[in-house]
Amino acid sequence: MNTESGTFLFKGGNIYDHGSRSFKESDLIVEDNKITEIGNIKTDSFRGKCINLNGSYIAPGLIDIHVHLREPGREDEETIVSGCNAAAAGGFTAVCCMPNTSPAIDNRGSVEFIKKQARGLLTDVYPIGAVTKDRAGNELTEMGDMADAGAVAFSDDGTPVSNSEILRYALEYSKMFNLPIIDHCEDQSLAKDKKMNEGKVSTMLGIPAVPSVAEDLIVARDLMMAEFTGGSIHIAHISSGRSVDLVREAKKRGVPVTAEVCPHHFILTEEAIKSFDTNLRVNPPVRTEEDIECIIAGLKDGTIDAIATDHAPHSIEEKEVEFDKAPPGMIGLETALGLVNTFLVKKGHLSLEQMIEKMAISPRKLLNLAIPEIKTGERANFVIFDADLKWQVDITKFKSKSRNTPFDGCNLIGKSVGVFNHGLWYDNR
Ligand code: DOR
Repeated sequence: MNTESGTFLFKGGNIYDHGSRSFKESDLIVEDNKITEIGNIKTDSFRGKCINLNGSYIAPGLIDIHVHLREPGREDEETIVSGCNAAAAGGFTAVCCMPNTSPAIDNRGSVEFIKKQARGLLTDVYPIGAVTKDRAGNELTEMGDMADAGAVAFSDDGTPVSNSEILRYALEYSKMFNLPIIDHCEDQSLAKDKKMNEGKVSTMLGIPAVPSVAEDLIVARDLMMAEFTGGSIHIAHISSGRSVDLVREAKKRGVPVTAEVCPHHFILTEEAIKSFDTNLRVNPPVRTEEDIECIIAGLKDGTIDAIATDHAPHSIEEKEVEFDKAPPGMIGLETALGLVNTFLVKKGHLSLEQMIEKMAISPRKLLNLAIPEIKTGERANFVIFDADLKWQVDITKFKSKSRNTPFDGCNLIGKSVGVFNHGLWYDNR
């Protein structure tokens, strides 16, 4: 991936202002890795590269708090470098990687390995440590060691922390480090070996299916356990309307809970699976219009804090099989911004400012990460995006090593123009 460094003038942008949480027309100069000037800047005396933005938006670099980078173990599907390139192309300056690698990220050494592989890249990589050893669900990991090495949260994602006693201790320990437990909420006694949402479509297609109550049960238990222990729980990829209601009620009671949703869960329904496109096979599964309505209401009223992708690369060979034999997951880093802008902002569900809140600000807050500000004297960490650019998703242009998205060929509005972080400018035009 080609990046540039030096002195840049970004001319004619709309800059996100933290104080007023709104965009203001302005120019911006970055020297090396610092923002040195913001305002109405004359080009005549400027020595450096001038980039005309024509009204594009400059916002804090997006962060995706739920990605699978597949390194170590499945470097044929993604590596830390290729995943970070995909992130940069998608407008992200940071990702949090899930520990369901092979071996799992379940000790200090593996957290250090991820950090080492990510050194010098434009994208910040924050490892998430496993809750249990080898994610097997039986024995707690050395969470303190991993926190010390740089883990920003703990999760057995791919599967839930099924054992309630283990969840209890995990929440009690993680509270000491002020880090959340991120849970994949699907009751395995209902969800194991199931391939889609249970309903009319699954009956018609004859595909083994999981009812949405499988998610609701684990969400309800997690909320109770967070309330009981005082530890923070983060609900990963929420997909059922009832779960959104449960989180809303819990937040009202003051339970330390946050939640994220993925674009596929507010765009796609089980109806799409009639195509048997294996790229639609995902855990938890895509559900119904009613679930989507609840999710959008949850995004609007703040019940759902963040939008994350669950970027889950899988090889072509593994996906080119019958629907029920395909591994779950789809990639998302290079389509997220376009999907959110097209399906939430352009449809009037969220404002551009709320999109930034869900994709750059709240996700960092819930992980206690510093929020990059676009201010003179601050380190430059931002995305520039064109909110009106029409483009078509083309998997052959992806930076990711994998191609498994159901959105190939989809017409979207809104695209990253480029990202700046660690003194590096990546131009996506
Ligand atoms: O569909 C999914 N794929 N859901 C997960 O939770 C895990 C992910 C993966 O790692 O492939």
